[in-house]
Amino acid sequence: MATDLIQELDALEAAAADEVGGVASGDDLEALRVRLLGRKEGRLTAILRRVGELPADQKPAVGKRANEVKEAVSALLERRESELAGGDGGAHGLDLTLPGRRAWRGGRHPVTRVVDEISEVFRDLGFARARGPEAETEWHNFVALNTPLDHPAAATSDTFYLEPGLLLRSHTSPVQIRTMLEHEPPIRIIAPGVVYRRDPWDPSHAPAFEQIEGLVVDEGVSMVDLKATLGEFARRLFGPDTKTRFRPSYFPFTEPSAEVDVTCPFCEAGCSTCKGTGWLEIMGAGMVDPAVFEAVGIDAERYTGFAFGMGPGRIAMLVYGVPDIRMWYEGDTRFLEQFT
Ligand code: DAH
Repeated sequence: MATDLIQELDALEAAAADEVGGVASGDDLEALRVRLLGRKEGRLTAILRRVGELPADQKPAVGKRANEVKEAVSALLERRESELAGGDGGAHGLDLTLPGRRAWRGGRHPVTRVVDEISEVFRDLGFARARGPEAETEWHNFVALNTPLDHPAAATSDTFYLEPGLLLRSHTSPVQIRTMLEHEPPIRIIAPGVVYRRDPWDPSHAPAFEQIEGLVVDEGVSMVDLKATLGEFARRLFGPDTKTRFRPSYFPFTEPSAEVDVTCPFCEAGCSTCKGTGWLEIMGAGMVDPAVFEAVGIDAERYTGFAFGMGPGRIAMLVYGVPDIRMWYEGDTRFLEQFT
């Protein structure tokens, strides 16, 4: 009877829907296809063979249903095939043998890594680590550092004032002052920390950024010690062949003062990082001005010292070839995770 055959066709379609998802390999899928649709022995063929026994007026209905089932089953088999090939990754298409996709668990910020590297070099050279407050007095930030309050850096247009006399430190140099007020020489410290300036937010400026301050005070400290210390620092940070050069400069709290350059670690004869000069400027430095010693009550006849200050964010830009300082501070993990 036609209804029997139609029921068998329905059962065939249901069986296919049932089994196809459990098939895990291309070979098993082909075996299933042969069992269901195979021309000689398949279930569909077996049903169709019996259509011939039906009265002529019942044949078309069964034939139509047989075509539908054949197409539906073929579609199921095809979808499973592409799933197994990794095509659409449907729930049943998961390949449990693939290694998992790991979520990024975070890491040290690239600027922090540079701060840590620099700190390690100075630790090995015998420097202790000092710290000071980010909300600082005008006296520690400027006056004691021989910087008069009519200096442009002290203007409200350049520095964030919290209230009269109190500001967000514009450099780490006030940590020199706090250290000298608290400790007798010999002093040999570095002070990493964040500083604040009313600078524009542009490729080379950020309103908050890192600095590392250094200070050495003892009897008999000379410019030779400054050059030797910073030369050794540069070789340890950038490589043993690194050379250092001092260019005359001016800072209120050092005399004489210098800008310190190192030979570009990235090229032999000029590249885009050093803008073809072969040199990279990495810090300011100098001999502690006697006026600074006077402000903190250290005897400038007996003691001398040197100081230096650098921006690890800028050094990290050079080291990693990052063209825009803002990229350090935008917190875009797609960018930051490259460095861990
Ligand atoms: N404080 C300076 C600045 O923020 C950097 C600096 C230069 C620090 C020379 C020093 C130094 O200790 O000797 O630009």
